[in-house]
Amino acid sequence: MTAETLNFNITYAAASRISEFDPQNISFGSVFTDHMLVADCINGVWQTPEILPYGEIAYNPALASLHYGQSIFEGMKAFKNENDEVLMFRPLENFKRFNISAERMCMAQVPEEIFIGGLEELLRIDAAWVPKGEDNSLYLRPFMFASDVYLGVRPSLNYRFMIIMSPAGKYYSTPPKVKVETEFIRAAPGGVGSAKCAGNYAASLYPAKLAQDQGYTQLLWTDAIEHKYFEESGTMNVMFVKDGKLITPNTSSTILKGITRDTLLQLAKSLGFETEERKISVEEIISGIQSGSVTEVFGAGTAVVVSPFAAIGFEGNDYALPEITEQSVSSQLKKALNDIRTGKVEDTFGWVWKV
Ligand code: COI
Repeated sequence: MTAETLNFNITYAAASRISEFDPQNISFGSVFTDHMLVADCINGVWQTPEILPYGEIAYNPALASLHYGQSIFEGMKAFKNENDEVLMFRPLENFKRFNISAERMCMAQVPEEIFIGGLEELLRIDAAWVPKGEDNSLYLRPFMFASDVYLGVRPSLNYRFMIIMSPAGKYYSTPPKVKVETEFIRAAPGGVGSAKCAGNYAASLYPAKLAQDQGYTQLLWTDAIEHKYFEESGTMNVMFVKDGKLITPNTSSTILKGITRDTLLQLAKSLGFETEERKISVEEIISGIQSGSVTEVFGAGTAVVVSPFAAIGFEGNDYALPEITEQSVSSQLKKALNDIRTGKVEDTFGWVWKV
């Protein structure tokens, strides 16, 4: 079975809803394209995937994923180039990471033909939904959940893999103000921090809500043992510019191996910046902001792309970061990334996947 030979059972939507969608006014994750992909793995055997009109799915109250949380996802984006061709960005990296998450959560492995082939087929059908314009893209959300109807605690025997797609603009409308979290933790060594599993996001909501009540947009997680070293921020990896060098925490079992993170490190090197992946203490960054050696702190992720922070809150004090300009490292990286993934410049890295 290859992406070319795999058959999808396709049922087309009776009418497109695209005229109801306003590309000038996109709110993240709230509008979905006309079609979705559904593939079931029954007792270890993947059934023929179906492409169906986007819509609700019925579920049994004893659905295993609702009770024990075997549920994983990926976030990816598609763009249009000048010739209106649809481009995905590094989809094989998401595919590999998805199956790494699946292994950690004791779930079925998804074949490439279904994951990549399904994305390609859906994008061909719903190509009109890929928005153009600065900061716009079609956000792709492959996900999988345990579909056994059973309340005993054991790995599910059946899984449902799905892909839905949603036009996206900027994730944050203003630069986020983030709080260094020193009470709650996101992940501990040996846990599931490097898996893209639903529970990691659920567990972040309460501490994030407390921070939002104090006026912050997001959290900056620290390590579970000493609360001394930065890990990642909510929904994104974190990067710093110190003395002109791009530095970021090295990945581990507690940090998601971000594809945007990896892309920016490679782009930074190609633009001539020095990069370092290492332990970064809160103390190093706070004193660096005060002395002026730390000039930028930003989030990196599929949804947020490159998102410079306005300020960092730590132990009741807010440390403002300098305004971002076109010359800022984060601006240069964002431009380089956007130019490649929208086909404006030649992709010498082999990252762009034409559908
Ligand atoms: C992504 O960047 O795709 C994410 O995983 C963030 C998402 C939870 C909004």
